[in-house]
Amino acid sequence: MAVILDGKKLKEKILESLKIKIDGFTKKPSLTVILVGNDPASRIYVNNKKITAEKIGINSDIITYPSSVTEDELLEKIHELNKDDNVNAILVQLPLPEHISKEKVINMINPQKDVDGFTPYNFGKLFSGEKPFVYPCTPKGILLLLDEYNIELEGKHVVIVGRSNIVGKPLSQMMLNRNATVTICHSHTKNLAEITKTADILVSAVGENIIEGKMLKPGCVVVDVGIFKDAAGRTRGDVDFENVSKIASYISPVPGGVGPMTITSLMLNTVELFEKTL
Ligand code: GUN
Repeated sequence: MAVILDGKKLKEKILESLKIKIDGFTKKPSLTVILVGNDPASRIYVNNKKITAEKIGINSDIITYPSSVTEDELLEKIHELNKDDNVNAILVQLPLPEHISKEKVINMINPQKDVDGFTPYNFGKLFSGEKPFVYPCTPKGILLLLDEYNIELEGKHVVIVGRSNIVGKPLSQMMLNRNATVTICHSHTKNLAEITKTADILVSAVGENIIEGKMLKPGCVVVDVGIFKDAAGRTRGDVDFENVSKIASYISPVPGGVGPMTITSLMLNTVELFEKTL
């Protein structure tokens, strides 16, 4: 039976020491989240971010817009937040409605307040092997979790299923920086199972239940980034947990694995951006 990569426990440990650090500041770090539309999942994620931030002493604001908001209104708001010295970190919750250019909106964020590390400046720094102001939250959280369990990356074959800008692409670079050999698979990959079977570490970030036990090498480390509701309304990940946990050496559960680590990284990034202003 695989060891559980317990993101919930690690979140508590990291946030406890982060709170002590924040208690020592005379001024508090601040995070502003922009939420557009009324996607129920996004609303829950954003509220969780605010609750966690406030628990550890980060000032947190949520600015909400109806999905009818114009691109110009959003860009103007970001411009305003960029100029506001009381705002250290800006996060625009994705996805955005189709009439708004995600690229234009992200481009507008001052890279020094870009808490997701998604602006071209920070993404470019990451991909050229330089240090961005901060690293994207989910990949950073995955590495923190693997490090906590002393899972070595150097020389390992990491297979990432999913090529999003939020997870797959930045994670591939961060793993390369740690001297892993990285393969990225996606919806057009042929013979997915032949590739996943060669993985020492498999990361799945698709949002569909696609990873079965027979696709894995025994002893593989499995990181499940997917989270969605199945037809019966249950929270599920990409991985068939019951069977895969009998084959893998380590496995992250859903919920309680990568999700809490993403929030943890967001808090760490907010404090890092704040500290750079001191
Ligand atoms: N939507 C899903 N994950 C993320 C994330 O990490 N950052 C932002 N901004 N939006 C998301």
